[in-house]
Amino acid sequence: MMSLPRFVPPAGTALSLGDLGAWLGGAARPRRELDRLAAAIQARYHIRHCFFVSSGRAGLAVLLRVLAERAAGRKELITPGYTCYSVAASAVRAGLRVRPLDVSVDTLDYRWDAVEGVDTAGAVAITSSNLYGIPGDLPRMEAFAGTRNLSFVDDAAQCLDGKVDGRWVGTFGDAGLLSFDKGKNITTLQGGVVVCRDDELAERLKHAFRRFPPPPRSTVALHTIQLLIYALMLRPRLYWIPNRFLSLGDTPFETDYPATLYSPRLAPLARRQLERVDGITEGRVRNSDRLRARLSGTPGIIVPGNPGGRSVYPRWPIVFLDPARRNHVLQRLRREGIGATGSYPQALVDVPELQPYLAADTADTPDARKVAAGILTLPTHPYLTADDKDRIVDVIVSSGA
Ligand SMILES: Cc1ncc(COP(=O)(O)O)c(C=O)c1O
Repeated sequence: MMSLPRFVPPAGTALSLGDLGAWLGGAARPRRELDRLAAAIQARYHIRHCFFVSSGRAGLAVLLRVLAERAAGRKELITPGYTCYSVAASAVRAGLRVRPLDVSVDTLDYRWDAVEGVDTAGAVAITSSNLYGIPGDLPRMEAFAGTRNLSFVDDAAQCLDGKVDGRWVGTFGDAGLLSFDKGKNITTLQGGVVVCRDDELAERLKHAFRRFPPPPRSTVALHTIQLLIYALMLRPRLYWIPNRFLSLGDTPFETDYPATLYSPRLAPLARRQLERVDGITEGRVRNSDRLRARLSGTPGIIVPGNPGGRSVYPRWPIVFLDPARRNHVLQRLRREGIGATGSYPQALVDVPELQPYLAADTADTPDARKVAAGILTLPTHPYLTADDKDRIVDVIVSSGA
């Protein structure tokens, strides 16, 4: 009998029938469910204020605009030179210029010589990126922002449930960002939360988000259908279908994305995953640990990390020193049905659409370029089998022979 193609999705959260049942059951009383989700986030992460929006990027754009109002005359956002394009696009949407600084290939966090040498006179804020669920040196970023009189936005879009020094990622600095987009640690396919502790900032945010419209009914219906398809199609035996016909996982540079409130009907599904987020994270960390144990020390490969923090790994990244080898491995893994990705293809300084919005005298970011050319991300979700991990290791190790 002919066997169906199998393709392991690059990222995702396995949703159970119980999750879907709780979601559909709770959808009848959406307002109450949104309050319950807010209470769950506040209790777990020790946060006072939460603002729910349709996406992390929509939330970030408003947050940056509000922070810019407090920092009259300043017009720049400092970001890591290799990060999600949505961060830079949100800064542009907030009317800011972007100053990317170089990153370290070993941590994917800022290179501290770049941070300490930067002129911050025109900067509203600095942002963390905690990419692939690896927390940055957030205490140091917080202290730096304090000495330079900048706001610090702790972006936990990819690192929900990560920790540094016993503190949750997303709770450092002035305000944080969470995301429930697809491919995040927990997901409702869309959704973002701006969080903060400070009452005065919260008042300003409340005022700004008051102008946000509710999601259109058609969008809510569409998301319901998409979520059901997502829950079903994430299985490797079926994922080849959306993989072949849809371009999933691309993150284009876009500033005109929709901005509405979060659909309260999705809240019970987010809360249900939050209740079991320890287990979700443990599974991802276990898969990443197994790959790391066999790939660390492989010549020509760097395994970035922050040994002092708790990482959550919605994907697990490695960086090849030789871009041609990365491209070869990427193609081979995908041919073998493994959803490896090359993540964001360029350092921010090289993204064509961002050129008009880069801060004056933006310095080159050579290590961010090395990351862009050499990175490969691997899946960590529970659909990744022991056999998949063996194949991943074989393809990567044999590519250096
Ligand atoms: C670091 C980072 N910040 C912000 C965002 C924006 O979040 P969303 O996808 O919910 O718009 C993303 C999206 O991937 C991200 O990776």
